[in-house]
Amino acid sequence: MSNKKKLYIETLGCAMNTRDTEHIIAELSSKDSYELCNEAKIADLIMINTCSVREKPVNKLFSEIGVFNKLKKDGAKIGICGCTASHLGDEIFKRAPSVSFVLGARNVSKVVEAVNTDKFLSVDIDYDESTYAFGEFRNSMNKAYVNISIGCDKQCTYCIVPHTRGDEISIPPELIIKEAKKAALSGAKEIFLLGQNVNNYGKRFSSKRDEKIDFSDLLNLISQIEEVERIRFTSPHPLHMDDKFLETFAKNPKVCKSMHMPLQSGSTHILEQMKRGYTKEWFLNRAMKLRELVPNVSISTDIIVAFPGESEKDFEDSMDVIEKVRFEQIFAFKYSARPLTKAAEFTNQIDSETGSARLKKLQDRQNEILDEIASQKSGQVLDVYFEELRNNGLVAGRSDNNALVQVEGNEELLGKTLKVKITNPRRLALYGEIVQ
Ligand code: SAH
Ligand code: SF4
Ligand code: F3S
Repeated sequence: MSNKKKLYIETLGCAMNTRDTEHIIAELSSKDSYELCNEAKIADLIMINTCSVREKPVNKLFSEIGVFNKLKKDGAKIGICGCTASHLGDEIFKRAPSVSFVLGARNVSKVVEAVNTDKFLSVDIDYDESTYAFGEFRNSMNKAYVNISIGCDKQCTYCIVPHTRGDEISIPPELIIKEAKKAALSGAKEIFLLGQNVNNYGKRFSSKRDEKIDFSDLLNLISQIEEVERIRFTSPHPLHMDDKFLETFAKNPKVCKSMHMPLQSGSTHILEQMKRGYTKEWFLNRAMKLRELVPNVSISTDIIVAFPGESEKDFEDSMDVIEKVRFEQIFAFKYSARPLTKAAEFTNQIDSETGSARLKKLQDRQNEILDEIASQKSGQVLDVYFEELRNNGLVAGRSDNNALVQVEGNEELLGKTLKVKITNPRRLALYGEIVQ
């Protein structure tokens, strides 16, 4: 049995948090003597990588700490990192005295020091060059997350992220290419680029650069890496979806044909209140242009219902956009007032029942749309890149345009791209058989 210390880490947030978790594991295994385990009760160190975007995951943090206090080994430490660590800081020690360190989303590079210092606290959001100089660890051999920027310069009035992750800074393209290449050479044929506003890439670097570069240029550069077969990214911002970006997306064969277009609201008035910087018409124009350029594109979105002041008519504007765009996937949320944000101060908050009713109406209609979309997929043949074994004898993968496809099979399919004929299309997954 190995005499290494055991690390258990739970990730509550978005893809960026997932990547931060990989960085933490890389640091603690290369610069200290930890190895990953998948049971909290045998761990010497339990970490929770938190999310602050809505109130629910923050409450979950404190209930999880309670659970871990009960089941942890004697002497095991609990450490909190990520976005809630950034915004609550030392309040976490006060509310949960068993916590031994608090490390903000932008301070992950200090994890070794944090683990070895009692009551260590580091939550500043200043620029930290080392945030992208980590060792190697990846959850998946087949898909590699690669950060292209950190932080966010937008000030959407409902959103806490700029307060937890700081200003937006692009990572130099040479470093991104180096990381993508390394991942691809070790078997990851799919590179997944991460940033809060990926298509705003190149506006600010930590030190001055002579050459200009934007996100379209970056996509083209990464696609020149021979071993990379597929490129995905999240999240682009609708405001920055100019023609050059849409055309690059359409033309570059390695760029997967699924686009996340976070709408947030279909009402131009609410979009103004949110400070999103675009109108309903601009969003519809971009979505239609995208469908025209890439007929098989799948478009996903995020929608917030019951933002302060959202009238029935504003909400119907969101319903109208889902009717017109027919999104292949919607992440819909009821507005949650967050500390440090402008919208939390607005006096026209919407009551929770109205929010729940609107959320249900939107989700019910979307489910009908998804059933209609799925029913048209029967008999289609898709190229599927297999990534994950499911425990019921199925293997799951994604089509180029991000549909979840499952077939019967075993681990031999992992990492391969194969043609699959869809025999049973369902709303959440397409079931099929390999035809080649
Ligand atoms: N940078 C990304 C979003 C990151 S946050 C973008 O601009 O699209 C992920 C999603 O959480 C957002 O798209 C939004 O829909 C949701 N969200 C953010 N703040 C929220 C809040 N206060 N209440 C409810 N949902 C929120
Ligand atoms: Fe939040 Fe807006 Fe930045 Fe997205 S763009 S992270 S919603 S402030
Ligand atoms: Fe991500 Fe949640 Fe932070 S969505 S950026 S982990 S607040």
